[in-house]
Amino acid sequence: MDPNRKPLIAGNWKMHMTAREAADLAAAINKGLDPDLKHDVLLAPSFTGLHAVRAALSGSKIFLSSQDVAWEEKGAFTGAVAPSQLLDAGCSHAIIGHSERRKIFLETDEVINKKVKAALKAGLLPVLCIGETLEERESQKTYRVLETQLTGAYAGIPAADAAKCVIAYEPVWAIGTGKTATPEQAQDAHTFVRKQMERLYGRDFAAAVRILYGGSVKADNVDELMAQPDIDGALVGGESLKADKFLRVIHSACQHAGHGLARIARRSSALAPRAYDARSSEAVLLS
Ligand code: 13P
Repeated sequence: MDPNRKPLIAGNWKMHMTAREAADLAAAINKGLDPDLKHDVLLAPSFTGLHAVRAALSGSKIFLSSQDVAWEEKGAFTGAVAPSQLLDAGCSHAIIGHSERRKIFLETDEVINKKVKAALKAGLLPVLCIGETLEERESQKTYRVLETQLTGAYAGIPAADAAKCVIAYEPVWAIGTGKTATPEQAQDAHTFVRKQMERLYGRDFAAAVRILYGGSVKADNVDELMAQPDIDGALVGGESLKADKFLRVIHSACQHAGHGLARIARRSSALAPRAYDARSSEAVLLS
C-alpha cells in the first residue's frame, strides 16, 4: 500500500452471533490489539448487536459500522434501519452495496446510490462494496462491471462527500470460497478502480481514496495483498469471527503498512469512534 494512505482492516460479521456473543468478540479483539497499532480497525456486527458492541468498545479506537442502511430518513419502511438510528447506535460507518445485498436482496446501483447519499447526508461514512462475479470475470467483463458500479454509486455525489467513502473491492468469486484473488489480480482491479476515481473526481482524489480488498482474506495472505501499492486494507468475513484469527489478520497486515505511518498519524490525529470528524479520516489527504 501507499504509505500516504492509512490502512483499514474491517470485520464484516454478516448474520452471525447474538448481541452478547458479538460484544464478547468485540471486547476480545479490542483487548488483543497492539496498543501501538496505527491503522484503523472497524467492526460491523448485525443491527441487533450494535448497541452491545458499542458498549464493549467504550474508550476504544475501533470504529463501529452497520452492514447496511436505509435510504429514507424515517417513516413506513418495515424492517429498514435509518441512518440516524445507526448514528444513535454508535456507528461511524455503514457498509453499502455488499454483493450479498446486491445478489440476494436484489439491490441495484440506483438503490446503492440512494443509500450512499442518505448515509453521507446523516454523517455516516460509507464503505462501498463493488466486485464482479466469476461469470463476469471469465467473460472479460470485470472492468465494465466495476466501472458501472462505481459510476452508479457515485452519481450526483460531489467530491467533498465522495471523499468520505471507503471502497471495498470484493470479487464475488472470492467471498467465502477460500479462493483469494492473487495479489496481482487484486492489484490490477484496484488500479482500475483508482483510475475510475480519477476519471470521476480527479487525480488528487484518486491518490487519497482508500480501497480495501475483500474475499477470503486470512492472516497468511493479508500481508502480500497489502504489499501491493493500491491495496489499502481488507474487508474480512469469516476470519473476523474469531478474536485470535482476526487479530492475526490485523497484526499481519501491519507488517507492510508500518512504514510512513507516523506521518499519517500526525495528520489524522487519534480517532475516537464517537467523537469523530469524518473529514479528518477519510479526506485527510485532500485537505
Ligand atoms: P470472506 O472473508 O468470508 O470471504 O468474506 C468476505 C466478505 O464478504 C466481507 O465483506
